[in-house]
Amino acid sequence: MLYQNLRLSTEDGVARVTLARPEVRNAFNADLIRELSDAFARLGADPNVRAIVLAGEGKTFSGGADLNWMRAALDCTEEENIEDALAMSDMFRTVDRCPKPTIARVHGAALGGGVGLCAVCDVVVSASDAIFGFTEVKLGILPAVISPFAIAKIGRSHARALFLTGERFGVDRAMAIGLVHHCADADELDLSIDRLLGELRSAGPQATQIAKRMIEEVCAVDYDASRELTAKRIASQRVTREGQEGIRAFLDKRKADWVRQ
Ligand code: COA
Repeated sequence: MLYQNLRLSTEDGVARVTLARPEVRNAFNADLIRELSDAFARLGADPNVRAIVLAGEGKTFSGGADLNWMRAALDCTEEENIEDALAMSDMFRTVDRCPKPTIARVHGAALGGGVGLCAVCDVVVSASDAIFGFTEVKLGILPAVISPFAIAKIGRSHARALFLTGERFGVDRAMAIGLVHHCADADELDLSIDRLLGELRSAGPQATQIAKRMIEEVCAVDYDASRELTAKRIASQRVTREGQEGIRAFLDKRKADWVRQ
């Protein structure tokens, strides 16, 4: 797929996906949703990609759903509106389930669906002056499609407080509710991300992906089922080449071979 609304580059195992509609603060319409779904599905399956950084071009990370596109919904049938919303939901799901570690690089603002994108990334690194908000109710609409992902990330209590008021909040609150993990001055955001990428590069690529999937698996079952499941996961990882190499490298006081890749 040729991307019109995204910029994509891959270097040294790191894919960078940049929302590229700065004139509307990287608001997403049907085209951008399609492109994001395609990019994350492709990068997730690319064996050369170790991690993905999602960022926004221009002044801000993302102002959420494109309100001109939403306004055009008036001319669409209910079925067409449902199809649009389902496509958006599938896009969030694709990012959420992307097997590779994902990092959101937030600056300016992450509002509405923009916060939704934060909720589906594994690690969120934010500029210290960024603002966040589930602002949909201010527009008379709902944080609907993003809600399963946002509630899973911040919990019911914060979802109730923030979905209902639509209030905007800063990075301190975003960190307190588990939406943001690291905060840096705007001009040091990339340094902070490079440090994280260094951590990811030194972790076993296969172990990282299985750990990500295991979190979802464990959350979906009760303790008895998770006891069986986690025993299977660690037992099979221990005997992989990667598991053996990681342990041997530690005992030999050298770096594991994937660190040099
Ligand atoms: N959809 C469509 N256009 C949007 C948009 C959105 N979600 N967010 C911003 N834009 C457009 C503005 O209409 C404006 O267009 P114009 O230049 O034709 O007037 C342009 O982007 C710049 O917006 P502006 O508000 O001047 O930029 P800013 O840098 O001062 O502020 C935001 C950026 C994101 C904080 C602000 O635009 C905003 O609050 N947007 C609404 C976010 C929102 O509530 N999203 C929820 C969607 S469900």
